[in-house]
Parts: sequence; C-alpha cells; structure tokens
Amino acid sequence: MALSDIDQVLAIEQRSFPTPWSKKAFISEITDNIFASYMVVEKGDKIVGYGGMWVFLDEAHITNIAVAPENRRTGIGEFILKQLIATAVAGGAKRMTLEVRASNHAAQRLYEKMGFERKGLRKGYYTDLREDAIIMWKDDLVQEGASGRASSGH
Ligand SMILES: CC(C)(COP(=O)(O)OP(=O)(O)OC[C@H]1O[C@@H](n2cnc3c(N)ncnc32)[C@H](O)[C@@H]1OP(=O)(O)O)[C@@H](O)C(=O)NCCC(=O)NCCS
Repeated sequence: MALSDIDQVLAIEQRSFPTPWSKKAFISEITDNIFASYMVVEKGDKIVGYGGMWVFLDEAHITNIAVAPENRRTGIGEFILKQLIATAVAGGAKRMTLEVRASNHAAQRLYEKMGFERKGLRKGYYTDLREDAIIMWKDDLVQEGASGRASSGH
C-alpha cells in the first residue's frame, strides 16, 4: 500500500466497517509504524481489497482486511490472508492473531477456513455497537508458509 492508494482504500474501509479508520490512521501506519505491513489488491487500476498487520518478534497481528462489496465472494479475501501469512512467515512470525466482531460471520468463516481457531472473547471490545470481539489464533504459520518444503528434505 502506497500513500497514493489511500483514497481508494478509505472508500472501501468506509463501506466495510461500522467505525472506519481515518485517513490519518492509514498514513501513519504506512509511513511511521516499522512493524506494520499493508498490501492492496488491484484489478486493472482499481483497488478491490487490502489488508494489513503488525509483525512483532514471532507474532503477527492482523489489523484489517476488507474487500470492496461488489468484489466479495470471489476469493480476494482469502488471497489477501494468504499473502499476509506468507509475508508474516518471511518476517519471522510463528503465530498470527486477530479480533473479529461476534456478528461478523463472513470473516469468521474465512479465518476458520484458513485454520484460525477461537481462543478467547473480549466482552464489549467494540464500543460503537457494544459488541464482543472473538479472538482467533493460528499457531501453525511456519508449516503453512513452508508447505511443500517441509516434506522435501530429510
Ligand atoms: C470478510 C471479507 C474480507 C471476505 O472477503 P471475500 O473476498 O468476500 O472472501 P472470499 O471470497 O475470499 O471467501 C473466502 C472464504 O470466506 C468465507 N466467506 C466469505 N464471505 C462469506 C459470507 N458472506 N458468508 C459465509 N462465508 C463467507 C467462505 O468460507 C469463503 O470460502 P468459500 O468461497 O470456499 O466458501 C469481506 O466479506 C469483507 O470485506 N467484509 C467487510 C470487512 C470485514 O469484516 N473484514 C474483516 C474484519 S475482522
């Protein structure tokens, strides 16, 4: 994600989350946060999705993933998550975590499909709608990132 992508990213963000991040938040993430990694998916010259995370020591924490409403259910969300996992593994992460709204079944399905498990609940974490956060973890990142290589050696 580059600074020039942010206006398109914001448009998706605003159509995807009850409390969207501000422009300033995205700018600060990609220019100031050395632990942050953000990517966009483009179709032609249009941004159709994005995702980001923090990688700190051996843990990766997903901050957001969103796909433009008209481009959903075509595999883009899964593609972004796979790219984040590969980038996290390359950066030394062994585990990955995220919080997801209790009502957000689409995202929970995506994460479960990718091997994330429910490990906790933060009551009232999302203060806007007083909604609980489900905390999910994926502990087998390295195996996943190295799939194909793990079994080829001795
Ligand atoms: C969650 C989100 C990123 C998924 O993106 P997407 O591109 O539509 O997802 P994909 O097409 O890659 O779907 C991958 C898997 O996710 C699950 N999934 C995605 N959308 C789903 C839905 N509406 N209902 C049920 N399962 C869904 C399915 O398991 C799907 O696999 P399948 O196609 O084999 O059934 C998208 O719905 C979105 O942007 N939502 C708003 C923002 C958001 O909630 N982000 C997550 C914050 S934690």
